[in-house]
Amino acid sequence: MTNDKDRVLIFDTTLRDGEQSPGATMTHDEKLEIAELLDDMGVDIIEAGFPIASEGDFAAVSEIAKRAKNASICGLARAQFPDIERCWDAVKNCEKPRIHTFIGTSPLHRAIPNLTMDQMADRIHETVTHARNLCPDVQWSPMDATRTEWDYLCRVIEIAIKAGATTINIPDTVGYTAPRESADLIKRLIATVPGADEVIFATHCHNDLGMATANALAAVEGGARQIECTINGLGERAGNTALEEVVMALKVRGDIMPFYTGVESKKLMHISRRVATASGFNVQFNKAIVGKNAFAHESGIHQDGMLKNKETFEIMRPEDVGLAGTSLPLGKHSGRAALRAKLRDLGYDVGDNQLKDVFVRFKALADRKKEVYDDDIVALITASAEGD
Ligand code: KIV
Ligand code: ZN
Repeated sequence: MTNDKDRVLIFDTTLRDGEQSPGATMTHDEKLEIAELLDDMGVDIIEAGFPIASEGDFAAVSEIAKRAKNASICGLARAQFPDIERCWDAVKNCEKPRIHTFIGTSPLHRAIPNLTMDQMADRIHETVTHARNLCPDVQWSPMDATRTEWDYLCRVIEIAIKAGATTINIPDTVGYTAPRESADLIKRLIATVPGADEVIFATHCHNDLGMATANALAAVEGGARQIECTINGLGERAGNTALEEVVMALKVRGDIMPFYTGVESKKLMHISRRVATASGFNVQFNKAIVGKNAFAHESGIHQDGMLKNKETFEIMRPEDVGLAGTSLPLGKHSGRAALRAKLRDLGYDVGDNQLKDVFVRFKALADRKKEVYDDDIVALITASAEGD
């Protein structure tokens, strides 16, 4: 897709892994709208669903595939011919279709279909070959890769590459790995598996230990050039790597991570809100990048610092993620400087004595209320002017 060695492809799976989060089901129209936003913001590959899972998933993937303008549209398929054929039927009308087929390769996952190592290796060969005969772009994943025996992992990846896989995704299905291990695993796989330099390695991390973003970025340092992620980190259990976090981490810390994506960061806030309403999963206030408090400062020291120089407490510009600006909500921790700035914003240029009086009234109110709104400030200044 790109020859630039530092370009990291963004593979969004909000509509597949994200939607697998219990209670996050989205309607057909919501999925089309989210896919359009993802396509428009520069996501490279959109995993639009699991076509054999339901008629609804098939219909959504097919429609998204037809409408995509730039992104490659991908569907998920188990390592079974009917899954792969159904997936191909759903994505085939896309300019850039992709089939993503997977099988659980760790001892625990091998026990489920009750296949021996050799039987599973044969299944991988047959299913990837079948997918590749249908579609020029095939991604293969050894599910639970981070708990798969090293020798077996190398063996099955080599089989998938020889059968025609173009992307090898390494899922940390249960969020078990840690950053150094994540980097080392990708690095060693690329150095060891024959043919590894002809495919793109992807990283797919879950957040069970809160390390999904760190693990994904470490994998990129190890040589992965595709990050699988979701908007707001939506996904099974504790979720997936959050798209907005990896995009902004690479943008802000290009000095130590010299990689880049094609995502327009100014569109992050809008899509975050859209996914939150469609999925019904509110974004936690202190969520990195897109949380309500990510660019808000209430304490007096922080507000004073921000009024003097925004870099004092912000490492990125709120405008770069699609916000109008920093917010300095007034609360009991706020100081005089923020109150004066707020009064100015509201059109009141007060002298020192009146500021002192309004400040006392403001503190008394802030002790009773979590947040003091503009209307409260207007009421306070009016009462102060009238000497109430
Ligand atoms: O977490 C996982 O292993 C997956 C696979 C289907 C790639 O989502
Ligand atoms: Zn997953």
